[in-house]
Amino acid sequence: MNEVFQVRAARTGDVQGIAELVNAYAAQSVMLPRSVESIALALDDFVVAADCHGRVMACGALKPYSPSLAEVASVAVSREAHGHGVGRAVVAAVEELAVRRGVRELFALTLTPKFFESVGYGVDDRARFPEKLRRDCAACVRRAGCAEVCVSRTLDREGVDVAA
Ligand SMILES: CC(C)(COP(=O)(O)OP(=O)(O)OC[C@H]1O[C@@H](n2cnc3c(N)ncnc32)[C@H](O)[C@@H]1OP(=O)(O)O)[C@@H](O)C(=O)NCCC(=O)NCCS
Repeated sequence: MNEVFQVRAARTGDVQGIAELVNAYAAQSVMLPRSVESIALALDDFVVAADCHGRVMACGALKPYSPSLAEVASVAVSREAHGHGVGRAVVAAVEELAVRRGVRELFALTLTPKFFESVGYGVDDRARFPEKLRRDCAACVRRAGCAEVCVSRTLDREGVDVAA
């Protein structure tokens, strides 16, 4: 991979690239799918990593549940870019967005908890996030055999953990 990448807020021209990235993993049951329309509607919540040609090579989103709680969602890095710190940079950019919006509690539901543990999250009990269970899990077709692991992190206003 060309290791030069820029992490920035998503733009209208990124919508298709985000959808292709997320839905390629969704087709392999690694992530939940996102429609182009749902991405466009939530574009202000997305960050991307773009290559030197401006193409989307990774994305992530801050999905709000309350003024203080949000999910780190739709984190995906194109296969050819894995293992170069792009995922870490995307999660850091989502956290910066959270800090700017005053959100302190972050969680994610993931099949790759080790990745999130490597970037500062701890395994948690999803029952601590009833907002997520009510809004998404209750209607999810995969809820019976869900293998996702809940991870969370608390930020202070500077974006570092309040407690280890
Ligand atoms: C998981 C994913 C986002 C990681 O992206 P990446 O750019 O390869 O990750 P990074 O290079 O930034 O790695 C950061 C750390 O996480 C670790 N890590 C990355 N992927 C991992 C994995 N699959 N399993 C365990 N650890 C992993 C790295 O070893 C690194 O740790 P270190 O800094 O202590 O060495 C990427 O593999 C991906 O897009 N997977 C498919 C979609 C997905 O599973 N998304 C997760 C959220 S639902």
